[in-house]
Amino acid sequence: MTRERQRVLIVSGLLAAIGVMVTLVSYSVPLYRLFCAATGALGTTQRVAADTARVSDRKVTVYFNTDVAPDMPWRFVPLQRSVTVALGQQVPVFFEATNNSATALVGHATFNVTPAKSAIYFKKIQCFCFTEERLGAHQTVQMPVQFYVDPRLADDPSTRDVKDITLSYEFFPSRKPEGATDLARFVVAGPPDASRGAKLFAANCGACHALAAAKVGPPLGGVVGRLAGSEAGYPYTAALAGFHQAWTPAELTKWLTNPQGLVPGTAMPMAVADAQDRVDIIAYLATTGGKGAIPPR
Ligand code: HEC
Repeated sequence: MTRERQRVLIVSGLLAAIGVMVTLVSYSVPLYRLFCAATGALGTTQRVAADTARVSDRKVTVYFNTDVAPDMPWRFVPLQRSVTVALGQQVPVFFEATNNSATALVGHATFNVTPAKSAIYFKKIQCFCFTEERLGAHQTVQMPVQFYVDPRLADDPSTRDVKDITLSYEFFPSRKPEGATDLARFVVAGPPDASRGAKLFAANCGACHALAAAKVGPPLGGVVGRLAGSEAGYPYTAALAGFHQAWTPAELTKWLTNPQGLVPGTAMPMAVADAQDRVDIIAYLATTGGKGAIPPR
């Protein structure tokens, strides 16, 4: 089959899949993952299911870098500095983008993987697909990427010793914005809603956290703006006690997205997959005293 024909097939398959997704109306992360696992979206030819059986003990740390072209009024950041993963293990990571301008803009991203020799083993199930992506005026999106590192990395003499991999993305203004897909599917839908956050907190966090007293986890009243791991008398893990960051809304977003990704070795087992849920929980926490004046996001 020629490359051209392969591309046509992939594109038409994708359009069909997108059509199905659109008719399903409500977007959800598990559904999206399913979609990605089934299609190996956009040219990543490996079917994930085939490789997940082989998760090895060997670990690598993947670092994330983001950049935005100077003429692009977007903020674009990874929500985790790095993740340490076993070879073959599938992990989701998140990137956040905000269009700081008053008009919708279409961006196009390029990426690269270093060291370059490891790139063929870095398998992206490329869910926020970095083709032409439109972001509305002042909109913020949290975009998932799911990936794994092929266990064959450890068998290849030229990559056997690789311990760190860096994935870098840069967004540029698109030169052909006409066919852009809309990033609206990842939008943090509404403004922060603290009263919804209070309910989510009670339901999802209340088993381990109270505002004023330690339970399984430390008290969280006034946690926004507080130094991580700093509640006197609570037995933090060495990992969190050594984290030395203030809990800004941005750090809390990363934390709730993937506690282990932000602070490897922490004992907090829970993640919040939904972007709006995270925003609302953080908005609620900001009302619970302390230095809650830091605006959400
Ligand atoms: C199953 C128990 C459990 C649940 C559920 C849980 N946490 Fe935690 N959380 C912990 C533990 C344990 C720690 C301390 C981690 C450590 O020391 O590494 C922690 C730490 C934290 C911290 C850091 C506090 C500090 O003083 O540095 C924040 C913030 C936090 N959790 C927020 C939440 C939120 C918000 C939720 C609900 C979405 C939640 N947690 C759900 C167990 C839990």
